[in-house]
Amino acid sequence: MTDALKLGFSPFTTPTKGVLVVFCDGSLNFGIATKKALGSAADAITRAAKAERFTGKKNSTLDLSVPPSLEVSRLAVIGLGKIAELKPNDFLKLGGLAVGRLPNAASDATVFAEMPGGAMRPEQAAALAQGVRLRAYAFDRYKTKRKDDEKSPKTRNVTIEVGDVAAVRKAFNPRSAITDGVLLARDLVNEPANVLYPEEFARRTLALKKLRVAVEVLDGRAMKKLGMNALIGVGQGSSHQSRVVVMRWNGGRAGQAPVAFIGKGVCFDTGGISIKPAASMEDMKGDMAGAACVVGLMHALAARKARVNAVGVVGLVENMPDGKAQRPGDIVKSMSGQTIEIINTDAEGRLVLADVIWYAAQRFKPKLMIDLATLTGAIIVALGQEYAGMFCNNDQLAERLNKAGIETGELVWRMPLAPEYDKMIDSKFADMKNTGGSRWGGAITAAQFIKRFVDDKVPWAHLDIAGTGFDSRQTDINKSWGSGWGVRLLNRLIEDHYER
Ligand code: BES
Ligand code: MN
Ligand code: ZN
Repeated sequence: MTDALKLGFSPFTTPTKGVLVVFCDGSLNFGIATKKALGSAADAITRAAKAERFTGKKNSTLDLSVPPSLEVSRLAVIGLGKIAELKPNDFLKLGGLAVGRLPNAASDATVFAEMPGGAMRPEQAAALAQGVRLRAYAFDRYKTKRKDDEKSPKTRNVTIEVGDVAAVRKAFNPRSAITDGVLLARDLVNEPANVLYPEEFARRTLALKKLRVAVEVLDGRAMKKLGMNALIGVGQGSSHQSRVVVMRWNGGRAGQAPVAFIGKGVCFDTGGISIKPAASMEDMKGDMAGAACVVGLMHALAARKARVNAVGVVGLVENMPDGKAQRPGDIVKSMSGQTIEIINTDAEGRLVLADVIWYAAQRFKPKLMIDLATLTGAIIVALGQEYAGMFCNNDQLAERLNKAGIETGELVWRMPLAPEYDKMIDSKFADMKNTGGSRWGGAITAAQFIKRFVDDKVPWAHLDIAGTGFDSRQTDINKSWGSGWGVRLLNRLIEDHYER
């Protein structure tokens, strides 16, 4: 991973340079090691707290520049509020807050992973470190100039001081693997479409081989032979060829049916002949966020050696208007044999998913399937950018996803699937059409369309991440446009329920 962050762990020692970040509770109490490091600066902190009305409330902060009697150049105090009320996920946020206290120019920082009762537990300190990495990520590969006032260093050294270094490192290892997956997904989403077109996306997935993930790339001929005409139709107006990538991680029992993840990978969505308006069209470089999440998840699972059999399948296309492009009114025969009348070439994601979902189901007979797609503007109208839309044919899976969402902060809200919506996508000329007659319930008719390519006996969830995958909500652990949304959610789902 190419983050400009050097993260290390060490036992508690008083730092002599850079920024020091410490934690206090809601009564301004510090831990023993922290108190020792602060020494006679304690008095200045009390006075500053009074002046700033800082009371140690959860997630509140107090900054002191050139704190007297300390060798560090800056001190940041972060409030924990009531210690007993802290939840596991709060530590991720605290790590993010710590990075948020570092001025641009700071190249060294020390974070004291201690609370008034003593050192943070290894799991807590590891979550803190994960929050540091998630927050510190920045996609600045294409910036060749630095502003004068932003003398940001090339690399940033953050040392997290902890009670038991070995135990924290051990707890951090899997979290670091998951973080690598999130940052990989963010990178893919942030890349512009002139760099990341289907073939290049496919090439980047080959890096997973190093982690012993089996990676197969299907080219145009292979897709044609399989009959993936719905997917092929979407990509036929582009000068870039389409690809399907299949990734397999076998960390579970031999022969055990895998869990399958399927991603929409539209590397750029102009809308095709049903072309989109110019405003914000540049955002459509992120229309492969579903596929990016699947790749990031496969990375996470393999890097932490998850004891699960998992497959990831992504459909990679570019949706362009062209003399060869698909037209409204065209009818394509999907791999499933069902025919689709194209009403609007901008409803392309469901066409891609129709074939890759069918393919994944036929080939791998998975025990469950989850697809992710930046599928509809309508889901943003319904849920905004806080929750992803979840459509699910199985109550147990829906409940598990819901719980994993709450645990990770990657929230999902269940939306309806119902046969009543089917008539909206019945076609005069083919088995179905690719858009409902009106915009009403646009996210639901899209889900209902995809459902026609899923065997109802297999638990399946469709996550519409149009509102969460890119242009994402800025949080304490995410300052990136592409959020990498879903990697932590689905990793958690697997951790909680599907490892042997
Ligand atoms: N990729 C878009 C959905 C989208 C829109 C994602 C805005 C994120 C932000 C998708 O391919 C699309 O164009 N959907 C259409 C469907 C319509 C033509 C039925 C939409 O939502 O308008
Ligand atoms: Mn579209
Ligand atoms: Zn799209």
